[in-house]
Amino acid sequence: MLASGHGSNLQALLDAFREPAAPARIALVVSNKPAAGALERARHAGVATATIPEDGRDADALLALLARHDIALVVLAGYLKRVPDRVVAAYRGRMLNVHPALLPCFGGAGMYGRRVHEAVLASGARITGVTVHLVDEQYDHGRILAQWPVPVHAGDTAETLAARVLETEHRLLPAVVGAFARCGGEPRCFLAADALGPAPSPQPDFADALTTL
Ligand code: GRF
Repeated sequence: MLASGHGSNLQALLDAFREPAAPARIALVVSNKPAAGALERARHAGVATATIPEDGRDADALLALLARHDIALVVLAGYLKRVPDRVVAAYRGRMLNVHPALLPCFGGAGMYGRRVHEAVLASGARITGVTVHLVDEQYDHGRILAQWPVPVHAGDTAETLAARVLETEHRLLPAVVGAFARCGGEPRCFLAADALGPAPSPQPDFADALTTL
């Protein structure tokens, strides 16, 4: 797993795959930020950790780390650097990213953290969500594996919206990683539409929605 931040998604994966019979095991957490909370969470869980230079550009170092730990699937969660092309190529179809919006909207270079949620609020969108997608050479661009909607509420701030979206990330990412692992890493691995239960209905009553305009 590659992470630059708090590592709450890492925690969700650690919690989901705690049992020895779990379909996946977190073998290594790599960060370009030595102070990242993700590293602390990994150490606490007894998972191997490594740091790489802040700019994340050293493909050889990253490839050597992944090989040394026999990594089958790379998960990016809150990792803020573009993964070097050679690493993307080596793990094509085996590298996932979680993005806190419904791609292809509100993604791309510079669209991370609260900026994503600010852009959603500024757009007037009433629905946002979570996307888990394969990683390719462009930011937030690879094939989408799973998405889940999250309603935008009147009065939301970037913080309240981020918190609601993050809860869904913590459910969707383990579901996708589990499905991926059970399929033996096959990229043709889709979640059932109801994998997380019924999707929220942000505007259950169309007439009510119109009165808020
Ligand atoms: C998540 O919203 C993730 O989608 C985004 O950065 C945030 C990381 O959170 N890319 P955490 O570090 O997993 O807590």
